[in-house]
Order: sequence, then C-alpha cells, then structure tokens
Amino acid sequence: MNARLLVTLVVLAAAGCTVEQSAAEYGEALFADPAVAGSSRNTFACATCHQTGATEDLSRLDSGANLRGVAARASFWGGQELRLLDAVNACLIFFMRAPRPLDEDDLDGHALAAYLESITPSGSPTDTLPFTVQENVLDFPVGGDAARGAVAYDAACGTCHGALHTGSGGLLGATSRTILPELTDEYATLFPGFDPHLVVTEKVRHGRFFDIGGAMPLYSLEALDDATLADILAHVLP
Ligand code: HEC
Ligand code: HEC
Repeated sequence: MNARLLVTLVVLAAAGCTVEQSAAEYGEALFADPAVAGSSRNTFACATCHQTGATEDLSRLDSGANLRGVAARASFWGGQELRLLDAVNACLIFFMRAPRPLDEDDLDGHALAAYLESITPSGSPTDTLPFTVQENVLDFPVGGDAARGAVAYDAACGTCHGALHTGSGGLLGATSRTILPELTDEYATLFPGFDPHLVVTEKVRHGRFFDIGGAMPLYSLEALDDATLADILAHVLP
C-alpha cells in the first residue's frame, strides 16, 4: 500500500469515529436536549436544572444537584431512589412530562446512564447527597435583601420565569400565568386570607409535589437556604 493511500484511510477512519458517537457522547447530547422527554409540552433539558462541571458555576442556583460523580453515590434523591436510572426517571416523569420511564434497554436510557458514568471519575464520594424537603410550610422567611435577591432570582428562577414583569428570556415564555410577580395578583381570590409571600414560599419548597401539581421542581433546604429565599421574596414581592 502506498503512503498516500494509507493516509487517506487513516483520515477516513478518524472521520468515522467522530460520526459514530459513543453511548456517552450521545447521552451528553440528550442531557442538553428537551426532546429527551418525548413530550412536545416539555421545554426543560436535564441541563436546565443540573450542573455537571468539576467547579460549581456560582451564577446558578439549581434545584437539582451537580451530577459530577453521581454514578458513585449510594442512593439518590436523599435516599428515596436506589437505582441511578430511577433517579433520572423521576425527573423525566415529574418535571419533563415524559409519557413513560426509560430503562437500560432503551437507547436513550442506556446513553444517559453511560454519560452519567462518564462524568464520574474513579474515587468519587459514595455518600448520598443530603436532600431536606420542608414538609410543612407554615411561615415564610423574612428580613431579606432585595438587591441580593435580584441576583439570586436570576440564578434560581430566571432561567424558567424570565425577567420580572415581562418573563423575557425565560423558558416558560411570556404568559401572565408564569410571570412573577404578576401571577400572584390572583392569589387574593385563589388563596384568600393567605399572604402571597407564604404561597410563593410553599411553591418553591414543594414544587409540583404535596398535591400542588404543575412541573416546577421543588427546592430542598440544601439547594436554596431560607436566607436566600428571603432575599428572593424581598425582590419579587417587595
Ligand atoms: C426541572 C428540574 C429538573 C430537571 C429538568 C431534571 N432534574 Fe434531575 N433532579 C432535579 C431535582 C430537584 C432532583 C432532586 C435533588 C437532587 O438529588 O439533585 C433531581 C435529582 C436527580 C438525580 C439524583 C441526584 C442525586 O445525587 O440525588 C439524577 C441522577 C438526576 N436528577 C438526573 C437527571 C437527568 C439525567 C435529567 C434529564 C433527563 C434530569 N435529572 C432532569 C431536578 C431536575
Ligand atoms: C425549571 C423551571 C423553573 C424554575 C427554575 C422555577 N420555576 Fe416556578 N414555575 C415553573 C413552572 C413550569 C410553573 C407553572 C407550572 C407549575 O405550577 O408547576 C411555575 C410556577 C411558579 C409559581 C406559581 C404557582 C401557582 O400556581 O400559583 C410561583 C410562585 C413560582 N413558580 C415561583 C418560582 C420561584 C420564586 C422560583 C425560584 C426560586 C422558581 N419559581 C423557579 C418552573 C420553574
């Protein structure tokens, strides 16, 4: 074989490698794609709520944990889920409107699991992450700082709800149903006698759970502490 032909073959082989993705590479693409849920009503990607970087991006305050090292953890969702794919399925079903859970035999389930394995370096901690859900919301945190709250709002809520008063830049689009604080205008009729700060706090702490419904994730005390929530409330409902 002459040298020139050999080079061509090597180039073709290299090109072949990049076209033919590994399962982990395909999983990485799925992680950033709302279509993974198989529902036209879903606008969230896995990456909307989870970081994966080795260093935390401090401009984000996510409801979901950083998934770097996740495959090494003993259990998930604070111990409620024992299998990695079940933890993923909880997100797909509850937040992303997926019609059915994925399993290991599905191309997508296999690929997502392979991607999560690929971002788990050997020696990653095996501890389950703490996930403290505030069950009873009887009060809302006070004494927040509106200026700090503006920054925290962008980091935690802005991705979905967009800018205050317009919803612009948010994944949910500009409907009055999801624009803050305008959506609280109807609280006087919907939740008579309840302080709107309390209703917002309940939504943030419970998301779609505790019979509330919807697709918004809940924030554990680890994901968003009370002091930061007080700041957000001071910004959203001064
Ligand atoms: C709307 C926000 C949201 C979306 C979208 C989302 N998740 Fe989650 N995810 C959460 C929350 C909240 C939890 C529970 C807190 C935690 O454990 O991180 C969670 C938990 C997890 C866990 C368990 C982490 C642990 O250590 O306990 C995994 C794994 C996971 N998600 C993967 C995914 C994958 C993969 C996708 C995309 C198919 C996805 N998530 C989409 C919010 C989301
Ligand atoms: C991953 C996207 C997402 C993030 C992040 C998010 N929300 Fe939401 N939120 C939603 C969706 C979707 C709805 C409407 C459906 C529902 O109620 O779940 C909603 C609804 C709400 C409602 C209205 C509940 C009602 O029906 O009266 C409030 C209040 C709210 N969000 C506050 C917040 C605050 C405050 C933050 C930040 C701490 C936040 N949200 C972060 C997706 C999100």
